[in-house]
Amino acid sequence: MMTSAEIRQQFLDFFASKGHVIVPSAPIVVKNDPTLLFTNAGMNQFKDYFLGNKQAPNPRIADTQKCLRVSGKHNDLEEVGVDTYHHTMFEMLGNWSFGDYFKQEAIGWSWELLTKVFGIPEDRLYVTVFEGDLKEHIPKDEEAFSEWKKWIAEDRILMGNKKDNFWEMGDTGPCGPCTEIHVDCRPDGERAAKDGKTLVNNDHPQVIEIWNNVFIQFSRMKDGSLQPLPAKHVDTGMGLERLVRVLQGKSSNYDTDVFSGTIEATESITGKEYGYSDSRADIAFRVIADHIRAIAFTIADGQLPSNTGAGYVIRRILRRAVRYYYSYLGYKQPLLFQLMPVLAGQFEKVFPELHQQLDFVTKVVKEEEDAFLRTLDKGLRKMDDIISAAGKSTNSTVNGSAAFELYDTYGFPLDLTRLIARENNLEVDEAAFENEMQQQKDRSRAATAVDTEDWIVLDSSSLMEFVGYDTLEIDTKVMKYRKVKAKGKESFQLVLAATPFYAESGGQVGDTGTLSFDGEEVKVLDTKKENDLIIHFVEKLPKNITASVLARVNRERREKTEAHHSATHLLHAALRTVLGPHVAQKGSLVNDEQLRFDFSHFAKLTDYEINSIENLVNQKIRENIAVYIEEMPKETAIEKGAMALFGEKYSDIVRVVMMDKSYSIELCGGTHVAATGELGYFKLKHESAVAAGVRRIEAISGAAAAEWLKDQLDQLQEIKELLRHPKELPRSIENMLAENAQLRKKLEQLENRALVGVRNELLQKKIIIGDINFIGELVDVGSADALKKLCYDLKNNLENYIAVLCANIGGKPFVAIGIADELVTSRLLDAGKLIREIVAPLIKGGGGGQKNLATAGGQEAGNLQKVIENIKVRLEA
Ligand code: ALA
Repeated sequence: MMTSAEIRQQFLDFFASKGHVIVPSAPIVVKNDPTLLFTNAGMNQFKDYFLGNKQAPNPRIADTQKCLRVSGKHNDLEEVGVDTYHHTMFEMLGNWSFGDYFKQEAIGWSWELLTKVFGIPEDRLYVTVFEGDLKEHIPKDEEAFSEWKKWIAEDRILMGNKKDNFWEMGDTGPCGPCTEIHVDCRPDGERAAKDGKTLVNNDHPQVIEIWNNVFIQFSRMKDGSLQPLPAKHVDTGMGLERLVRVLQGKSSNYDTDVFSGTIEATESITGKEYGYSDSRADIAFRVIADHIRAIAFTIADGQLPSNTGAGYVIRRILRRAVRYYYSYLGYKQPLLFQLMPVLAGQFEKVFPELHQQLDFVTKVVKEEEDAFLRTLDKGLRKMDDIISAAGKSTNSTVNGSAAFELYDTYGFPLDLTRLIARENNLEVDEAAFENEMQQQKDRSRAATAVDTEDWIVLDSSSLMEFVGYDTLEIDTKVMKYRKVKAKGKESFQLVLAATPFYAESGGQVGDTGTLSFDGEEVKVLDTKKENDLIIHFVEKLPKNITASVLARVNRERREKTEAHHSATHLLHAALRTVLGPHVAQKGSLVNDEQLRFDFSHFAKLTDYEINSIENLVNQKIRENIAVYIEEMPKETAIEKGAMALFGEKYSDIVRVVMMDKSYSIELCGGTHVAATGELGYFKLKHESAVAAGVRRIEAISGAAAAEWLKDQLDQLQEIKELLRHPKELPRSIENMLAENAQLRKKLEQLENRALVGVRNELLQKKIIIGDINFIGELVDVGSADALKKLCYDLKNNLENYIAVLCANIGGKPFVAIGIADELVTSRLLDAGKLIREIVAPLIKGGGGGQKNLATAGGQEAGNLQKVIENIKVRLEA
């Protein structure tokens, strides 16, 4: 039996033999494409080749691609683990033709590979072909139909509608008719009894689609129309896990060697056995075996779990896995992190990024599991409260907002709440829950809704060119533009034929500057990339958009940013020298004000380490190393020791930035100073933790560092002047502080003595209200604390006392209310409540405290007498 590794290799070898270049998988986390969070198909990384924005380096490519389908158009999350053939992360084997071969070759080769190389019996295969769609004005795919007829009996070619046989990447983007290949894996007896044809595309677990061949010919526009593309392409995708299952003769993807390692490891950790059934425990095994892959590979590609965007999707997948082992395998400690070595070993050869970062990914996963298990625990206690409250009130429903709070704050999905509720004879108000859920969705949609219109193309005769490494100014023209509406505001985006504007990437912010059209100046507020397109965000459209344009980058801002980018490289190398080679970049932000660098490291940096890092960077600045930038094949760069980042997509030819070949070599598309001496000085300003195993450094360099330094020195000068230029400044401040402390102490003693006098006066002023000894006075003290002290003191000297002591300190009102403990109990009095209800509104402020002592401060000192009066009235009532 072939292993999954052998099957993957055979696929790649087959297409290599047909003239395809084999490329690495793109990262699973997508950057620079607002329509996608994660790679959801092998073709994503080639989107610009299809759309004609960029020339493909090779007309034939094949690979295996890490994909994740848990958000957006393709979303399988809820099926995963429940059935045996959907996954969050899966490997998509694919072959592509960019304007090269078309249906004849694609169909012929897929037949050859499946039947001749892999030996799948022909009588188990069915294919589907697009039947056409009147509304879209696309005819039946006759060409695919007649190509298939060369290989397979006509009654095994089924016609399919737009839902099944017209593939689209997302709401917009490349698309086209497709032909799918389905395999009937049922035993012979069953096959004889029921024609497999009737089960195709019918959710039968044993009659499954394994390969999709898409003939990309259109781009779906925002307005729903289809625009024909300049060339015709092939895009195919075959799920490796399903193919392996077919070839290994299993009835479930989870019984193949793709998943058996992690399932066995889960068995030995939990002491439970996987039973191949639909029981909740078996679903849990499958959920874990599936989810661990999605979690591990996205973290390895640089995406940490978080509360927004892609990070939140990962957090949700991880929580789903935790919940399954917690609830259905009875395992109450972190489990997923223990599976990491098995997984990393399994994929070491194909996706080495996990193995290379094993410690880091393990630590992040464990931390995340620990945190969620604590939350689950708290949620369970909350659930206990709800159950006991329901018991007391004979109420038999868990209300919708409680269920929603459990979901939103404690990560309890509705089915868990429902399960626990039923175990306690309660029902959940599910309609109310759904209502709350909908409201939350509406709120977040309203907050993030962005309406991007289709491009209006003025010129498509050439490809866009970036000239910003060599010049900051160029005469050019607008190729296309579009309107964007977000949060009720309209803005515009432009693409230029040639642009000096650097688009945000690799941590370096996008350039700002101006575009001059016939003398009309339009500000460029930001520049970003969308796949490989450089998009200028402008404040308005010019009157004459077809005029020639002078594009000019804000030079000062770019140069300051450049200094920070070069400093980041020096810092990265210094971190690896001082802390060790485990340091890997996990995030970077480079702008004109400062640099921010996140990296994997497990401990807080010591002062000694910080000094060493700073010294090393400054030494490299003083060496005034020429910054040397060269394009070369990726392999050569890696051989030279270039640091590639995990989760970045690199092409075959890479740009390498060197600052002393033996010190810093990085693959980098950013802009840099010419020699390190230009940085002048480097100062590390702040070091902190960002997440488990990730530290953050904020630093400045170049002109920004000089400005910062000047500011610091000015402050120092000011202090010296204030202290009349002492010989030793620190000593002089130390002395001052010591003197100050002494004076404070003395003052306190004096104040305490004075307070005894005030207390005695106050005791004279008590009035009797029923059984209460009431003292309400405006007193002359220097601090709010003194009011409190007086209350304590009165308490020790007067039975059944209530004191309302007010002071006007520097124009601000302060109030303290003290109540004898006996009165708190016998009369149910509450000082905190009096403060909130009577005092706070009158003095326009707030405060609080205990039942026997509470304080407040505010803005309106004119009402203090009224405070005393009103409380008196309340007590007399
Ligand atoms: N892009 C096609 C798919 O994902 C092959 O099915």
